[in-house]
Amino acid sequence: MILIGPPGAGKGTQAQRLVEKFAIPHISSGDMLRAAVAEGTELGKQADGFMKSGQLVPDDVVIGMVIDRIGKPDAAGGFMLDGFPRTRPQAEALDTALAGAGVSLDRVLLIEVPDSLIVERIVGRRSDPQTGAIYHLKFNPPPPELADRLVQRKDDTEEACRARLDKYHSETAPIVPFYEQKGVLVRVNGEGPPDQVTRRIVDALR
Ligand code: AP5
Repeated sequence: MILIGPPGAGKGTQAQRLVEKFAIPHISSGDMLRAAVAEGTELGKQADGFMKSGQLVPDDVVIGMVIDRIGKPDAAGGFMLDGFPRTRPQAEALDTALAGAGVSLDRVLLIEVPDSLIVERIVGRRSDPQTGAIYHLKFNPPPPELADRLVQRKDDTEEACRARLDKYHSETAPIVPFYEQKGVLVRVNGEGPPDQVTRRIVDALR
């Protein structure tokens, strides 16, 4: 399964709930890149500048990283991709890799949220580096005892968020018809409280 949607659509939030339900790994290209940056690997050094400014990391860096990951044993029974593919070349590379492995996509879930809601969701996000839990200062407030250890992502500024949104519309939204033609695309309204969105997703997948 693949999750697609603009920055702040709730892909990470929903993926954490869905992978528990389906017992499959959550494979987030953004989380993998952030881990590489934090570890200071060669890949992380290449990705860092692009990420901070809200630009996409080049396809040749990202494609190999994700294709390798989905070949790991824990993904043999299925996986949930979050944030990949994001460009037409990434979608085509994934298609080729899956066909080669005899794997077919069950669903591509598009979480739709209007641009007008995105900046507020992004600048209010805080994450727990110890558990990976995602909070929002207003929409999903963290427990007060965690407040001191929560972090804000470097690309969660208004400026970088607007750049990410532009990239979503110019590079990622055009891959939606690619999956629509394959008959695997499911659209879900991502507005409203997270629990309501989860219910819509579960209903849509049923
Ligand atoms: P990535 O980490 O994938 O970021 P993104 O796609 O911009 O998505 P986000 O993680 O910002 O948002 P989300 O949809 O997961 O929302 P969340 O659930 O956290 O990518 C980051 C960067 O890495 C890219 O810009 C690029 O540089 C690089 N990159 C990654 N993959 C790449 C690729 N394939 N190719 C090239 N470059 C790549 O929710 C957001 C906030 O809203 C949270 O605070 C949450 O609590 C809140 N929230 C969630 N749901 C709701 C709701 N229903 N109502 C109110 N608030 C809500």
